[in-house]
Amino acid sequence: MRIDVNGSALETAPRPGQCLRTLLREHGHTEVKKGCDAGDCGACSVILDGSPVHSCLIPAARAEGSVIATAAGLAPGDELHPVQEALATGFGFQCGFCTPGMSVTAACLGPDDADDLDRRLKGNLCRCTGYRPIREAIESTLGPVRETGARAEPGAVAETGAGGVRESVVPEPARRVVQGLEPFTFDEVPAGTLVLRVVTSPHPHARIRAIRTAAALAHPGVVAVFTHADAPDVLYSTGRHERHTDDAADTRMLDDVVRFVGQRVAAVVAESAEAADNACRLVEVDYEMLPAVFDPDEARSPGAPVIHPGRTPGDRVADANRNVVADLHTGRGDVEGALAGSAVVIDETWSNGRTIHAQLETHGSVGWLAEDGSLVIRSSTQVPFLTRNELARVFGLERERVRVFAPRVGGGFGGKQEIFTEDLVALAVLATGRPVAYEFSRTDEFLRSSFRHPMRTRVRLGADAAGRFTGIAIELLSDTGAYGNHASGVMHHALSESVSLYNVPAVRIDAEAVYTNNPPSGAFRGYGLGQVILAVESAVDMVAERLGMDPFALRRANAIRDGDPIMHASGEIDAGTLWGSYGLDQCLDQAEAALAGPDDVPAPAGWLVGEGVAAAMIATMAPFGHVAHASVTAHPDGSFTARTGTAEFGNGSTTVHRQIVASVFGVPVARVRIVHADTDVVEHDTGAFASAGLTVAGKALYAAALALRDRIGGSVPREDETATGSELGEKRSLAFNVHAVRVAVDPETGSVRVLRQVHAADAGTVLNPAQCVGQIEGGVAQGLGGALYEEIHLAEGRVTNPMFRAYRVPQFVDVPVTHISFATTHDDLGPFGAKSMSESPYNPVAPALGNAIARALGSRPFEQPFTRDRVWRLAGGA
Ligand code: FES
Repeated sequence: MRIDVNGSALETAPRPGQCLRTLLREHGHTEVKKGCDAGDCGACSVILDGSPVHSCLIPAARAEGSVIATAAGLAPGDELHPVQEALATGFGFQCGFCTPGMSVTAACLGPDDADDLDRRLKGNLCRCTGYRPIREAIESTLGPVRETGARAEPGAVAETGAGGVRESVVPEPARRVVQGLEPFTFDEVPAGTLVLRVVTSPHPHARIRAIRTAAALAHPGVVAVFTHADAPDVLYSTGRHERHTDDAADTRMLDDVVRFVGQRVAAVVAESAEAADNACRLVEVDYEMLPAVFDPDEARSPGAPVIHPGRTPGDRVADANRNVVADLHTGRGDVEGALAGSAVVIDETWSNGRTIHAQLETHGSVGWLAEDGSLVIRSSTQVPFLTRNELARVFGLERERVRVFAPRVGGGFGGKQEIFTEDLVALAVLATGRPVAYEFSRTDEFLRSSFRHPMRTRVRLGADAAGRFTGIAIELLSDTGAYGNHASGVMHHALSESVSLYNVPAVRIDAEAVYTNNPPSGAFRGYGLGQVILAVESAVDMVAERLGMDPFALRRANAIRDGDPIMHASGEIDAGTLWGSYGLDQCLDQAEAALAGPDDVPAPAGWLVGEGVAAAMIATMAPFGHVAHASVTAHPDGSFTARTGTAEFGNGSTTVHRQIVASVFGVPVARVRIVHADTDVVEHDTGAFASAGLTVAGKALYAAALALRDRIGGSVPREDETATGSELGEKRSLAFNVHAVRVAVDPETGSVRVLRQVHAADAGTVLNPAQCVGQIEGGVAQGLGGALYEEIHLAEGRVTNPMFRAYRVPQFVDVPVTHISFATTHDDLGPFGAKSMSESPYNPVAPALGNAIARALGSRPFEQPFTRDRVWRLAGGA
């Protein structure tokens, strides 16, 4: 058949059943992205005969004779379509995976669509931005820009501008990103790459008695089938930290026991996806059913099936016989006495559902052997070095014989702080000697990636008659699912800054993270803090209600203050956390003042209105072992190369890193090139999580730049001069977020509408204001989805809504304006006075909404998300 793509004729013969997206990508049009296979996300949008379509839904054969335009062909030559120009210069993307599809859809709009964007953009999801900059970019091309009220710093700085810190420098790859030409992991795959697919368990708990693979191996095109008999007999964790011993050693690459529905059972490697899929269906597995348990409280009770028998504290499993992977029992002071003597005691339990990262680019990796026989893995990962180290350990290879690198990553939010594909790819590459690719489908994401830990948090909070907190006791039960990746870290982090935000003389913590036969939980933006902050900030609000106090005033009266000792619940002073700055007081003031502003949308008649606020604190880097080494090279042509190990997945770190070097040398940012996230060409970096791209990698780079400037001054060297810098992550500061919201609640339906929401952030010196605003808006949008409707549903451990159509993430229409302000602080510990601000904005959103709903209804939600049916019941529905 013949089609016209971006003005060029394409003669091709589509395979039976092939969709247009796959055909276009196979012919080099990798600007057409793959985010799902169901027409839900819009990443694959193209213009087909003048209309925007989701190309994954179009049978390729039906496109015969069509004229197609992709994001790379919206404008002639190197030019950008006006909407692409607006997206590129207006910070209309973060990871950029949705952006080509968004550009395509937006390019089809005209002035008449200006008031209908919510509907016209319904089919294009963005998980990063919260949509405000996308909306503004599109509107700017359709007519006069409407005032949204969000604080988006104007005056983006072009590459040729000064571009130092404190300026909104546009990311360097912006033009390529909006055209879809900046490559992600699967946009560059070696010729002849084999496709890996997995056979998965239909049972939540079973022992594999036998696997018969002969029929699959005999299928045309199949190269290999791997089972547990072929996998290294090494236990590890998919979760990655600087120390591999931080997580439970409970996972085998392919195991003879399956512990959740969707767990890998076998891997098929074939010449094509079709052959691999067909062969997977030919693998026969005999299972012996084992009893399963899905409720974490039942799982730790006597008589429950033991999910990981034989694991010991040496494997970092606290009590395998009780299914307890991690626990924490600590405190300071006489909590029971304090509560008994309190004027008011709140004693309630909050719970949160399972939510998923839903980054637009799915997990995946491609591997091959280098000319010298060493293993190369190109991966969509937040942690290339930690992945390299663990692959080397599991396969018994020298680290130098393994290279892992990450091109641009299409979102992560903690979900790519895991090894979900690289291990099987490595196994297959080493066994076959051929390049192998394993790319998650969207369904794979829902069935076998990871989720936010569901937690049940009982809080007993006491206060005296004046509103001074007297004691707090927290009982936490965390469902880690079938494996313990991040179970301990999330549980400990959940109980750190959430409990330390207020000065409370007596504290008691009892927490357990428990195995179940549910799909595994993992790292997710906020790393557990959001769950416990929901409970603590709701309890604080209940104290205010009971005492008739203003919730802002109650928080001010009890909040930790600049210079206060930062105590663990155990009473130990946290030696690693220091006051580099303090901006909570400003955040509370700013949020209170901003909330007093007018509604952005009117409250419908008959709906009940309430306001809520919540505060959150977060340390500016991970507590244990987050390290980075960086270097800066000055070249004779006056340019610089900055090398860092951290990955770019939409957090903006590469842009800020260039700004740091440009500022140190007083040169335009265009003169600074970044090399990053490649274990063969840069030095070790723990990775892009815990908001460490700025406060760890950024500090290492800053140190390198200062060292180089000390050596060469302002001169241009005759030959390359390089200096190195390191940050060992030993001192961390504290950042704050305060979210406040006014909502209207329909007592007839349970619908919740945000009338006005404000967010005050203490980010220290804001190095790139537009990017930082974007991180906050994106975090707030994710918080909103998690608070109101996002939820994975399970039936006997089986995910029943494994697609975007059934698991709703915020769409264009769903995200209201966020009025954002910043405390004016300068952090003594951060680079140029900056603090981290990538994951923390998420944390106070759900409790602020819960508090507002409670004030509106006079009845409080305890179960997150606060879905319409739950809110309707609160409002008195049957
Ligand atoms: Fe839209 Fe990442 S920028 S999904």
